[in-house]
Amino acid sequence: MTEPDDKPEDRAPEGDAPRRGARPGRASAGKRVRRNLKLARMKGAAEPAAGGAEAKYLAIIMDGNGRWAQRRRLPVAAGHRAGAKSLRRVLEHALDLGIKEVTVYAFSTENWDRPADEVAALMDLFIEMIESQVPDLHDRGARVQFVGRRDGVPPDLVRRIEESEALTAGNERMTLFIAFNYGARRELLDAAEGLAAEWAEGHGGGAAAGRPRGSAPERPSFTDEDLRRHLHAPEMHDPELLIRTSGEQRISNFLLWQVAYSELHFSDKLWPDFAEEDLDAALADYARRQRRFGGRGS
Ligand code: FPP
Repeated sequence: MTEPDDKPEDRAPEGDAPRRGARPGRASAGKRVRRNLKLARMKGAAEPAAGGAEAKYLAIIMDGNGRWAQRRRLPVAAGHRAGAKSLRRVLEHALDLGIKEVTVYAFSTENWDRPADEVAALMDLFIEMIESQVPDLHDRGARVQFVGRRDGVPPDLVRRIEESEALTAGNERMTLFIAFNYGARRELLDAAEGLAAEWAEGHGGGAAAGRPRGSAPERPSFTDEDLRRHLHAPEMHDPELLIRTSGEQRISNFLLWQVAYSELHFSDKLWPDFAEEDLDAALADYARRQRRFGGRGS
């Protein structure tokens, strides 16, 4: 990804080769994490039950931009800008590590209630981020997909969202899901409505339609997968690891369906300070967990 002040020659070539202009040691990041994971296991860490310690599907609640700015007596927009740079670093590192999906919480349905100047600054930042960074993500083989509702979003931002999704649609190396104008309860209500409409259609227009007088109504019966088909991004894997920064320990209406069995990692770092080594630490923490999914494990 490219920050506005990056030079084009510093941009990443495609594939796994070390990037020109990358900081020393970055190319061996994958090796370092694998070594850390091995060390964690040698220290007596629980053997992961899920057939491999390396998380491939991550979700991140990027919290603490406001406090980061406040501590520096900067406007809150400066915190979000620093948060955007942090996201760039973390995504590059995730690409280096071979992580397949990262879902970030960029803007919730509740965030519209923030002061108008902060919301406006965030909208401008999203446009700037999409324009400056999506081409670079595309070069690195990442697909960008927005998750959330488009209604109420400024049309010039919707246009860029659609363009970035179209540009990167064929990429397979990593998917970046950006939860924007997103709330998990809204997503679940949308899914329930979609499922109900689908069921009604398959039953002649509704539970009562065409039913002989006095006969019992047919009760719908759904599976997890039926509901998943109606989520905003049905193709998203359940995150194996959910990271939240800034010391807060809440889910905040994020991916409520998908994180049912995710491992949770809380970092005290404010999001703009969250760096590559913090992602490594979260992944090593994940490697020490024993996942049982409600069973007894093996
Ligand atoms: C939470 O910190 C952060 C946000 C609401 C915005 C996150 C957005 C970015 C990092 C920019 C990313 C851009 C794209 C295109 C994905 P907060 O303001 O709630 O922090 P606080 O709790 O300290 O106030």
